[in-house]
Amino acid sequence: MFANVADYRAAARRYLPDFAWSYLEGGAEDSITMRRNRAAYESIAFAPRVLIDVSTVSTATTLAGCQASWPAVVGPTGLNGLYCRGAEEALARAAHAAGLPFALSTASTSLLEDVRAASDGDLWLQLYVQQDRRIAEDIMARAQAARFSTLLLTVDTPVTGQRDHYARTGFTLPLRWTRRLLWDIATHPRWLAKVGVHGVPQLVNLARSARLGPGIEAQAAALGRQMDTTLDWRDIVWLRKHWPGKIFIKGIQTVADAALAFRHEADGVVLSNHGGRQLDGAQSPLDILAHTAAITPRGAEILVDGGIRRGSDIAKAVALGAKGVLLGRAPLYGLAAGAENGAHDVLALLHKEFDICMRLLGCTSIAELGADRLCAHGGAFEPLPGATHATQAVPLNITATIPA
Ligand SMILES: Cc1cc2nc3c(=O)[nH]c(=O)nc-3n(C[C@H](O)[C@H](O)[C@H](O)COP(=O)(O)O)c2cc1C
Repeated sequence: MFANVADYRAAARRYLPDFAWSYLEGGAEDSITMRRNRAAYESIAFAPRVLIDVSTVSTATTLAGCQASWPAVVGPTGLNGLYCRGAEEALARAAHAAGLPFALSTASTSLLEDVRAASDGDLWLQLYVQQDRRIAEDIMARAQAARFSTLLLTVDTPVTGQRDHYARTGFTLPLRWTRRLLWDIATHPRWLAKVGVHGVPQLVNLARSARLGPGIEAQAAALGRQMDTTLDWRDIVWLRKHWPGKIFIKGIQTVADAALAFRHEADGVVLSNHGGRQLDGAQSPLDILAHTAAITPRGAEILVDGGIRRGSDIAKAVALGAKGVLLGRAPLYGLAAGAENGAHDVLALLHKEFDICMRLLGCTSIAELGADRLCAHGGAFEPLPGATHATQAVPLNITATIPA
């Protein structure tokens, strides 16, 4: 077991071919937002209280109405089959062992039914909506039948952000067997033996609902080019008709849109810029967290993601008003470095760090973890005000190639 998430990241970097690593790690354009996500956490200082009995501490909470051992969700990430075989099942089991929900992406490389068969834990479905709404309706019906509890509607991806690294590493779906790609794979023999020899992972979940056969080309087109860019707030009503469980809107980036989400009776929002993979230059979700908490109706929940790499990051998010965080890249580093055990270890490390952080802050329960445990480090964590008006997404006629 490595010492921290950064060590798992380094091991993942060594193990994966460049194309898979850049898919996992890369941000959009100049990665300004990706760096900003981290900087937001680093700019916050703690104000620990002392001489408090912290011999017994509970990190337990509820997320979307279900018990969780600590305030985190293993977030949805597409194409996980690039890192190890049976990746989604491995993540679901690791999350369940850690007492956390696991959110399965529409772009998953295992069937949601197989993920349910692998784990009895709390499973959430992340939804991308294609132009043919019957695809999303079918995925939702299958997920209900498989006892998925909560829906995350991702709204920050009408088109795929500009990711320069795809051009550098030559990553396309389907893979184009250029000399560069062959060299990349040949120089990563451990990955080739464990993952590569089995072929390119397929977007089987989407393929089943879209009634597509095997073949990553048509699957990638369904995910990218056929994304429904007309989706707007009115469609929450459509969603409600097909999903009786909790609905969270993922990819909210302003206080104004959080307010709109609650007005449309979302059960929660995920403040997220997709880990800096979409609009480069977007603000950090942490910067709007406190203001969003101030307008959140009773019973609704805020989750936040982007840049969580330490248990102390989770404490900062909770102290600013989040019910929990979504973990994006961190468990994937573990998965790539050590398959299911690696993901399991990353989650155990983050939980341990979070537990230590709570004790050092003088908090014995999540309820005690409030903004009084933080200090405005030169005003740096003062949240930026959200936009004052709601904006509608303008459909752009851009061909997206590789989403998620
Ligand atoms: C490799 C990768 C694939 C992702 N795929 C999806 C996806 O399919 N659906 C989605 O809603 N978000 C997706 N995300 C965004 C994550 O759910 C999450 O918002 C983000 O990773 C959080 O930032 P972090 O990676 O810095 O923790 C993806 C992120 C990564 C790194």
